[in-house]
Order: sequence, then structure tokens, then C-alpha cells
Amino acid sequence: MSDREFNLYRKLIYSRAGICLSPPKKALLEARLGRRLRELGLESFLAYYQYVIEDTSESELVQLLDRVSTNETHFFREPRQFDFLEEKILPNWVIQANGGLRPQQVRVWSAGCSTGEEPYSLAMMLLDYLPPERGWEIEIMGTDLSSRAIESARRAIWPIVKAQEIPEKYLKRFMLKGIGSQAGCMKAGPEIRAIVRLENLNLNDEHYPIAGIFDLILCRNVLIYFDAESRARVIRRLQNYLAPAGYLFVGHAESLNGLSEQLRHVVPTVYHQAAVNKLAPTASFAPPWGAGAV
Ligand SMILES: C[S@@+](CC[C@H](N)C(=O)[O-])C[C@H]1O[C@@H](n2cnc3c(N)ncnc32)[C@H](O)[C@@H]1O
Repeated sequence: MSDREFNLYRKLIYSRAGICLSPPKKALLEARLGRRLRELGLESFLAYYQYVIEDTSESELVQLLDRVSTNETHFFREPRQFDFLEEKILPNWVIQANGGLRPQQVRVWSAGCSTGEEPYSLAMMLLDYLPPERGWEIEIMGTDLSSRAIESARRAIWPIVKAQEIPEKYLKRFMLKGIGSQAGCMKAGPEIRAIVRLENLNLNDEHYPIAGIFDLILCRNVLIYFDAESRARVIRRLQNYLAPAGYLFVGHAESLNGLSEQLRHVVPTVYHQAAVNKLAPTASFAPPWGAGAV
């Protein structure tokens, strides 16, 4: 890949996904796109670039962005945040609900959820702590730029080795162990599948097709690939979807220093919305996405 070709891809990827590729990433991009070139029988990176921009359906752009994004993720990743959720946030929501200060409804958004480990981890902890049989309603939305990651999250099947990442009490209650042709795999059980909804969403888009607000938003290990300007834009948009007194979790290497006056830093990587929100609260998912099977 020539420097000129690399620059063409850099501009395209930045303008569409907000992802900023530094020059050392050239070799990585070359390796990831090289496979696609061979699949399509194209002979140069320039030819592939033309192919992508001439495809008016943008399906090849989706393929390209799928290959650019790094999808590494784990169940209960960054355990200190899950501890904070379990020890501070959830007990507080219960106290507030018992005092009639909040409904027994919780909405959580995992923005940049990759192959689903993050939203399903949240589903396990929330269902355990806020039982539906005691009146709690939980909705968890997972979104990602990568259509391949979302398809995989919807299948909700992972190699059994990932069971090690899940605390025993949740594993036994919420996961199914594969047998026969599914041996070596595990699948999310119906209880958690019922409350997790997964959709494609580009955080770099100006408008998100999402209704309502969220008590907790996780946007972890996503904005590290963005430059300061697009990161600030995404944070401003996410903030509009955060409930008054809602929480925002970012990744361990990320900080919102100087990006928002309304988001108060609580503990490292955890922020709290201080001001009243612009969007009206709503208790459930709404169109334009409609009711898709999850
Ligand atoms: C390293 S994974 C992080 C997954 C999970 N949040 C975690 O911390 O384990 C980063 C994810 O961000 C997604 N991503 C990158 N750019 C995005 C964008 N513009 N909009 C939405 N998702 C994006 C990637 O597709 C990838 O799945």
C-alpha cells in the first residue's frame, strides 16, 4: 500500500467512522484489507478504494469498516467498574425505588458492544440484583459499528474458554453449555437474551436512531480510536441520552477531562451526569427500529 493509498483510506475511515489511523497502522490496514482484496480478485489497494466508494449501497464500506475495527472484548471486563455498579449504583437505585423516588425500570446502553460480552455481563448482574419477580424491568441495548460483531452478539455463542471470565453464580444461572455438535461452546440463556437488544449504530453519525434516555451508558475502549474532536462530539451526543443523575463508564485508558462540564468524575473512568437532560424520559424501546428479534 502506497502512502497515497493509505491517506485515501485514512480520510475515508475518519470521515465515516471517526476512527483515526496513525501512520504506524498502515501495515495493519494492509493486512486486514489484503484479505478482502484477494476475496474480490482485485489487484491493488487503489482498485479496492474505487470499488468501495463507487458502491452506492455502501455495503462494501460496511465490510471495510468491519475489518478496520478492533473487536477485542471480555465478559466483566474492567471488574472495578462492575464492582462499583454492584456496590454503589444498584443499591442506590433500590433505595430510591423503595422510597418512590424512581421507577423500578432500568435502561442501560453498551455503546460499542462488540460481540456482546459487555451487554450480557450487564444483563447477568442486573437480573441478579434487580429481580423481575420483585417488579424490576430491565432493558439493555448493545450497539456497534461492525455488522459482523453485532451478528455474532445476536448469536450469543462463545467458546467455552470464555466461561472463565464469568463469576460462577452467573455462569450456572444464565449460561447454557453446548453439547453434541455445540460442545466447546456456551450460549446465553433465554433469561438474559430476553432483555438484551442489539443493533448496528455508528457513534460518528450526527443523529442516533434511538429514543429515550439511559440510566447507565458504557462507552468503553471505543473512543481510543477517535481523535480529540470526534471524541468530544460523541461524548456530547451520548450525554443527551443520559438520564439526570445517570452514569457514564469509559475505558481504563480513557478520560473525559475537559470534554464536559456536566459530567462529574466519581471514581476513575466513572462519570455522573449532574444536570437535567434535554430528552424526555421513556420507559421502553421505541421506533424507528421497531421490534426485531434478538
Ligand atoms: C475494543 S472493542 C470494545 C468492546 C467493549 N466496549 C469492551 O470494552 O470490551 C471496540 C468496539 O468499538 C466499535 N467501534 C469502533 N468505531 C465505532 C463507531 N464509530 N461506532 C460504533 N462502534 C464503533 C468496534 O467495532 C469495536 O467492536
